[in-house]
Amino acid sequence: MKSLKNLNFEKIQNVGIRVDFNVPINKNFRITDKTRLDRSKETIDFIKNKQCNIFLISHFGRPKENFDEKYSFSKLIDQFEDMLELKLNFISYDSFLDSGLNEIDVDKSTISLLENIRFFEGEIKNDLKFSKSITDKLDLYVNEAFSASHRFHSSVNQMAKNILSAPGFNFEREILAINNIKKSPKKKLAIIGGSKVSTKIKTLLSLTSSCSDIFIGGAMANNFFKYNSINVSNSLIEEGTESMIEMIYNSAKSTNCKIHLPSDVILDSNENKLIDELPTSSDFKILDISVSSHAVLEKLIGNSDIVLWNGPMGMIEDNKYSKGSVNLAHLLAKSQADVVIGGGDTILAINMAEEKFENFYFVSTAGGAFLEALENKDLPGIQALMAD
Ligand code: 3PG
Ligand code: MG
Repeated sequence: MKSLKNLNFEKIQNVGIRVDFNVPINKNFRITDKTRLDRSKETIDFIKNKQCNIFLISHFGRPKENFDEKYSFSKLIDQFEDMLELKLNFISYDSFLDSGLNEIDVDKSTISLLENIRFFEGEIKNDLKFSKSITDKLDLYVNEAFSASHRFHSSVNQMAKNILSAPGFNFEREILAINNIKKSPKKKLAIIGGSKVSTKIKTLLSLTSSCSDIFIGGAMANNFFKYNSINVSNSLIEEGTESMIEMIYNSAKSTNCKIHLPSDVILDSNENKLIDELPTSSDFKILDISVSSHAVLEKLIGNSDIVLWNGPMGMIEDNKYSKGSVNLAHLLAKSQADVVIGGGDTILAINMAEEKFENFYFVSTAGGAFLEALENKDLPGIQALMAD
């Protein structure tokens, strides 16, 4: 893999930078977290200072149609300009379709943002011809979208293979931090939350081999409670997870990894209940973890050298049920362990807790890619950069 810092820019004029501007927004299209923008800034500025023309390429959401205004960058570009403190030139869907990137004339040192790359069919099909319609115009392709590197898409897996390519600075740091943690023989704890077991089963299985302890929180824990014959009433449950949970327990048993579940929870009635004292009725929902669970977590964290955290401990989008995740953010920020955090909702918890990223060993911009990287998978985005 090449390093940006070592490249000779004499003959490089047009540079494509794959960024991940798939940012969270509210219903008024206001960006609610700019971490991904901030993390791309160093790479963009570096290339800009080399007097190159920059073409920013990113996806946004998962549009089903070829063009859907809801997913258009035209609605976000002003905010990108403010947040990145850069002037951006927009390449619309139509102008790209009419003339491709090759025909687009830019003045020297312009930064252009191409419309949502997922509007173009060739992107998710990882189509070679499509990828070339972009890279033919470029002299260098930089991938600064670590958080998308688990996707077999053209801008992730193909474009970097077509021409000279290198990872962006944040991309490099993400790989380094995750690899350092994976390689380390120190005692590890994984704290995994969120709602679905099925999307995290592979990661969980692989964590049973690398961690001494795994704490499961969030709605995901409801499935584990149910598996252990605890009445979870109307709590959010994912059907058909029994065999997955059995696999996780079996794997943990064989590797001597302990699985921990919350010892108390907050119900929709706002009551705090120990798990042993949950009502027998069928009209409650578990929505967060509470004090006794935090005591368990504090002890586990204190006994670990490395802590990985992904996924909220409760229904974080409702302030009433965000304390479990926010308190965990405080516990981790003050702990001596090397803490690595990944996932959009997990970053939200850090921000809600007003804890600084500097208080942790590393905060990843990635969710899915972070989990897949922990699984020892070869990520398509990394593969492509290695091929160059
Ligand atoms: C993410 O938010 O995890 C990345 O931007 C990838 O998005 P995707 O899950 O829609 O591929
Ligand atoms: Mg994702």
